[in-house]
Amino acid sequence: MKFTRVNSLKGELTVPGDKSISHRSIMLGALADGTTEIHGFLKGADCLSTISCFSKMGIVTEDKGDTILVHGRGMRGLARPDQVLDCGNSGTTTRLISGILSAQKFDVTLTGDESIQKRPMKRIIEPLSMMGAKIESVRGNGCAPLSIHGSALHGICYHSPVASAQVKSAILLAGLYADGETRVIEPYLSRDHSERMLTSFGADIRTEGTEVILKPAARLEGQKIQIPGDISSAAFFIAAALITPDSEILIRNVGINPTRDGILKICRDMNADIRLLNVKEGPGEPTADLLIRSGKLTGTVIEGAVIPTLIDELPVIAAMACYAEGTTIIRDAAELKVKESNRIAVMVKNLSAMGADVTETEDGMIIRGGRTLHGAVIDSHRDHRIAMTFAVAAMGADGETEILDAECVNISYPGFYRDLAALTR
Ligand code: S3P
Repeated sequence: MKFTRVNSLKGELTVPGDKSISHRSIMLGALADGTTEIHGFLKGADCLSTISCFSKMGIVTEDKGDTILVHGRGMRGLARPDQVLDCGNSGTTTRLISGILSAQKFDVTLTGDESIQKRPMKRIIEPLSMMGAKIESVRGNGCAPLSIHGSALHGICYHSPVASAQVKSAILLAGLYADGETRVIEPYLSRDHSERMLTSFGADIRTEGTEVILKPAARLEGQKIQIPGDISSAAFFIAAALITPDSEILIRNVGINPTRDGILKICRDMNADIRLLNVKEGPGEPTADLLIRSGKLTGTVIEGAVIPTLIDELPVIAAMACYAEGTTIIRDAAELKVKESNRIAVMVKNLSAMGADVTETEDGMIIRGGRTLHGAVIDSHRDHRIAMTFAVAAMGADGETEILDAECVNISYPGFYRDLAALTR
């Protein structure tokens, strides 16, 4: 797909539902008693992979258009799948479902696409094994395919070396079935959607700082869930409006959970004009409408505890930093190397191809802003967030940018290019 400079962005939009929350709504809905009614579910390829895995284990979901119904079969209601479970491109599906499957009374094999088969799974194999799980990397390389032999589990107290909601959630989901309490302590707090949703489904779970404590659950109760717009999807429009002169856009009903809202904080540090309107506290997840106006941006330092709260937004923040005055430093973000692609290497290569002054570091990058970017051929590496990032970067660049494998945006945002085009003037 090809992109060129735009004059301004104007108008309103609603971004699709939050990907993390959509996955969890299917998983907990499947394990609950009764029907779970989900509004705002993201029908992107990743979340459809989660539905497909659970349907192979006997879970019926109904797509009613704006609503998805999940007919839960209870904590012990999953059936043994008669085929391999394919998690597609989805790390969330692979890691979270592993926690659930470790405790079932059947054996199962999990796999996924080329990217998934390269992503680290030792980070869940180790803690789940400590809980008594029998889970192995089939090729012995610490990656999927994974073979899981369902077993009786016991609670653990786990000091996670990474701030990862996928690791934390895999352990918590296994902990629902464990004998005794499960504790997870993180170096920094990662997104807490699992904790919030487990609470609403009736689990006994509490958080103390960066520690979460869960008691095993005899049953969960089906819920009505309202999923807010995904701030990680809104991020592309936030960046596009901030870097395109004479822009003003309103993004309605965006999730602003404090474990996810780092992009808002960093944009403010960069001098951006972002206003939160119509702020609602919940139930479940807080939301707001975001009013964004373009203006002069300045460089900043992004590090430490804020990193997990904007981890998926760092590619587009890096692109935005090219349009800011001064230097932006991103550090403590080595996790970017093990996402759908190596997002440090891929960002540095692609931004450099567009004429940006950017240096790769061990755990991030240094971006010296203020240069005019020019069009280039961008290899998305079939990473949805890389493709969307460069559609945005191209909006302020001279000449034409071509994005390869641009359709990979279907993973998290099927209508992305249409929605972007609708705002451009
Ligand atoms: C996610 C957690 C994050 C994030 C991913 C979704 C989740 O991964 O990058 O897109 O839904 O729990 P990590 O928890 O591994 O950092």
